[in-house]
Amino acid sequence: MKTKIWDVRNYVEDLSTYPQIEEIKTIFEADGLIAIPTETVYGLAANALSETAVSKVYQAKGRPSDNPLIVHIYERQQMTFVSSIHPAASQLMDAFWPGPISFILPLKENVLAPSVTAGHASVAVRMPVDKTARQLLRKVQLPLAAPSANLSGRPSPTQFSHVYEDLNGRIDGIVQGPDSEVGLESTVLDCTSYPFKIARPGAVTETMLENIVPGCITESDYDLKDAPIAPGMKYRHYAPNSPMTLIDGGINSPLTIEDHVAVIAPTSMKHLVTGKHFYDLCSSVEDYKTAANRLYDILREMDHLPEIKKIYISGFPRNENTRALMNRIEKACSGK
Ligand code: TXA
Ligand code: MG
Repeated sequence: MKTKIWDVRNYVEDLSTYPQIEEIKTIFEADGLIAIPTETVYGLAANALSETAVSKVYQAKGRPSDNPLIVHIYERQQMTFVSSIHPAASQLMDAFWPGPISFILPLKENVLAPSVTAGHASVAVRMPVDKTARQLLRKVQLPLAAPSANLSGRPSPTQFSHVYEDLNGRIDGIVQGPDSEVGLESTVLDCTSYPFKIARPGAVTETMLENIVPGCITESDYDLKDAPIAPGMKYRHYAPNSPMTLIDGGINSPLTIEDHVAVIAPTSMKHLVTGKHFYDLCSSVEDYKTAANRLYDILREMDHLPEIKKIYISGFPRNENTRALMNRIEKACSGK
């Protein structure tokens, strides 16, 4: 399949002036698969009302068919596929939508294509804030099911080139926008019982949620290895080809590395490392936002360097703000 590329970078302020905007809409209506930028990571989008379209998403990604997708919307009135919304969830939507948080809500049956939710009685919904994503959703006027636009088992794509690398030839098109601003996948909040549970940490933190509705979050079991409440938790997460080990607490004494070893750390630790392969993740441990933004790109780069046989990655102080980042780093280290 020939994958079309729509470079909209010069049209982000007003996508309606982009010459091929109608073509994009038409392909969505015809059950096509199109990767689109969002503020978290690029998504592989398809009409969430069409079983033909949604089944192709699983095929193109090589995604296990029992791992449900997030439905992306432009406005709340589109949530005709949700049976009820807890008042606290509604308050949180007012506060954080559009933005990098997905809400798992009770599903109203027979509206969405069945494979969107993979047999679950709930559905994850997100209203992205990224300008391109928002304008596309408004234009297309369909709820779009979209997992991250990577091949299953690879890191989520935060740049056009990542999507191209994984999915060129497998999907109808890619909307080339700016790089993703956040760089980590959305916070997933399970709102099917109260208090709510954070199923996946992201840019919207527990404190931010609690500040809107005090008491709305219960300590999550999701991070416990033996209690995979979120279906996604049981699937293999991305880890680089070469084993990666976490240096918990960061690098705080001199370290000499051999030529086949790479170290990924803040620039502030560079003076402690002697060796060939030092990769800057951000300026210092305070700069966790840049680290989140760059992590997946650097991990992809590792897989392009055959001479690297072993990777060390510096950890960040564990707090609310670094929770999503450390969660992804730990998964990529597979517990090492
Ligand atoms: O930032 C994001 O969320 C990106 C962009 C494209 O929006 N999307 C994304 O999708 O990360 P994906 O498929 O890679 O991750 C969705 C996660 C999976 O872990 C999935 O298991 C979980 O959300 N999920 C989806 N529907 C669910 C449901 N009904 N119940 C529990 N977990 C659900
Ligand atoms: Mg994913």
